[in-house]
Amino acid sequence: MKLRRWIAAGAVAVATAAVLTSPATAGRPYDPTDQSLRNLALRHGLAVGTAVDLAALNDPADPRYRELAASEFSTVTAENAMKWESLEPTRGTYNWGPADELVTFARQHDQRVRGHVLVWHNQLPAWLTNGVADGSISTAELRDILRRHITNVVTHFKGRIWQWDVVNEAVSDPWDTPSTLHYKGFWAEHLGPGYIADAFRWARAADPHALLFYNDYNIEAFGSRDPANDKTQFVYDMAKQLRAKGVPIDGIGSQGHLGTQYGNFDTFQVVEALRKFAGLGLATAFTEVDVRSQLTEGVQAGNEAEINPRLQAAAANFDVLLQACLAERHCLSFTVWGFTDKHSWVPGWFTDPPEGMATIYDENYQPKRAYQALKADLIYSGPPYVLPRIPQRPRR
Ligand code: G3I
Repeated sequence: MKLRRWIAAGAVAVATAAVLTSPATAGRPYDPTDQSLRNLALRHGLAVGTAVDLAALNDPADPRYRELAASEFSTVTAENAMKWESLEPTRGTYNWGPADELVTFARQHDQRVRGHVLVWHNQLPAWLTNGVADGSISTAELRDILRRHITNVVTHFKGRIWQWDVVNEAVSDPWDTPSTLHYKGFWAEHLGPGYIADAFRWARAADPHALLFYNDYNIEAFGSRDPANDKTQFVYDMAKQLRAKGVPIDGIGSQGHLGTQYGNFDTFQVVEALRKFAGLGLATAFTEVDVRSQLTEGVQAGNEAEINPRLQAAAANFDVLLQACLAERHCLSFTVWGFTDKHSWVPGWFTDPPEGMATIYDENYQPKRAYQALKADLIYSGPPYVLPRIPQRPRR
């Protein structure tokens, strides 16, 4: 019995090695003395990532940001530098500089890159939205502009992107109007939902080797199972239809923007959602994890009785998402949306009431309880419940 277990463990190790040395994955061997998240995750064949703020990465007064971005993570995502308004601020003139810098940084540190994002209704260049608004860009031209954008961007980064977020946040939320879930935003309004399938096909044509993801928030777990109000169900149905039509979608990115003021989920609920997507033949990934808290007057005044439960609740939520990802072998990567409260989108975005404390390091780069929870998950999990990832092959 024991021998059989050792043989099984050996097979797992060989499989892990195969996963880790395949060309699609960045290569650094497991180092038993290295306690970084990226190294600990290697044992599971899992990539651990962060969104990167290029300004912080290049700030000579803030060297710790660069050090930790390199040492703790095996995949990086541009927080803003690959968005359309950043890449093509003036029509026809691409500014590749900052995005290229990140790709170079990733290569220097044996990291893979998640490309974010090809089609989204936010952070579009003004020339595009104004042109559509004033009628100087027709519907036919808009479709052509989208095709060319996807083709140009994917071609530019060809061979250097592991996973592309091809379409981002295409589905409404129950709190939108109308409350029945629907395809929302600029692209659905102007081109109809058919743009989603088109986008995947155009991306695949430009890079046959990148994994192509649909990425969204509020899809961590199923709710009522009624696609009229359960966003996870709506996205599941969408993915199933895309697969049935032969659209080259390879994965579902679950962003994982949580807040400690909400009910959130337990690990089993999240595993179930990941399994359902895997059942469609899709990979999954957590792509933008952070867990924000309300910054009450007590929190801002340093009252530990208010701070500690928030730190603890945030850690528990990070823990649930990572445990679920570890448990589902098609969950390829776990990316946090910024790793330090010094550089997080949350305080600038949620101001009434103020929110923050959303990341795994505090503003002075001290690891928080959430960091320790992720580390513990990576250290103390293994067979039989946690096995190495199953690599995903790009769908033709
Ligand atoms: O570039 C301008 C700069 O010139 C100006 O001085 C500054 C002043 O406010 O604003 C800068 O633009 C900001 C941009 O980030 C770059 O820093 C925008 O105001 C700000 O709105 C923008 O926020 C980004 C947000 O997406 C916009 O939608 C956040 O950094 C970014 O973290 C966030 O990321 C999104 C994901 O892409 C998709 N999922 C949700 C996630 C969180 O909203």
